[in-house]
Amino acid sequence: TRDLSEQIKEVTKESHVRAENTELMLSFQRGQVTLPQYKLLLCSLYEIYRALEEEMDRNSNHPAVAPIYFPAELARIKSIEKDLEYFYGPDWREKIVVPAATQRYSHRLRQIGKENPEFLVAHAYTRYLGDLSGGQVLGRIAQKSMGLKSGEGLSFFAFPGVSSPNLFKQLYRSRMNSVELTAEERNGVLEEAVRAFEFNIQVFDGLQKMLSVAGNEQRQSSTDSKAVHGKTLQIPGTF
Ligand code: HEM
Repeated sequence: TRDLSEQIKEVTKESHVRAENTELMLSFQRGQVTLPQYKLLLCSLYEIYRALEEEMDRNSNHPAVAPIYFPAELARIKSIEKDLEYFYGPDWREKIVVPAATQRYSHRLRQIGKENPEFLVAHAYTRYLGDLSGGQVLGRIAQKSMGLKSGEGLSFFAFPGVSSPNLFKQLYRSRMNSVELTAEERNGVLEEAVRAFEFNIQVFDGLQKMLSVAGNEQRQSSTDSKAVHGKTLQIPGTF
């Protein structure tokens, strides 16, 4: 059989193209990302990485997780918290707003953490290798687009524990390939990777919808957006 790293890249190729072509990712690539877009994206990344990293931590000794468990190099949650505090202030936790798609994504992450930890590799691959690839360019573009100073509010994009993203990606792929999976489990992982991309696309689309609602009908609540701590929140008109 071929390497998991090759297969996963191949089966998600088309999804990657669709992710790159979401409205939100196009704004990034055109250097047109706005502060409201970026702030709202950070809120969703917070929910996503909290679920992903909690489940990775809990399953760090699982044979399918241990080889790809790199908290020192990859963990994003502290960086995201720092960025959220920078943009929203000390009470940022009360200001987190996410689309329903983000809740579905984090729910799925927690579910597989409990039921199929071997699928976590698909989600870790999708986010972390993306962050180490296109994400590096997007970070620099974002800084310019929003006129931010020397990385302020952009910790999410910085991987101080990874000196060469390309070498690290090679190491990560070899670790992925060392995971022993039955044929059935491997198919499950490949399917889950396509699903992981799909979740990301739906989150990006959900964010754009929230932004257009907030921009066009100031301060009206949206059925597609909820506060993560249970209460339904109105989308703030000002970011
Ligand atoms: C890899 C660009 C969005 C996940 C890459 C690579 C580039 C890139 C240039 C390196 C390709 C290679 O090494 O052959 C972009 C751009 C994006 C974007 C410009 C949007 C503006 C995304 C998104 C995700 C993602 C939204 C998933 C959430 C990945 C993954 C890889 C990757 C997992 C590693 C592929 C592999 O080597 O197996 N991306 N990307 N990307 N990207 Fe993206």
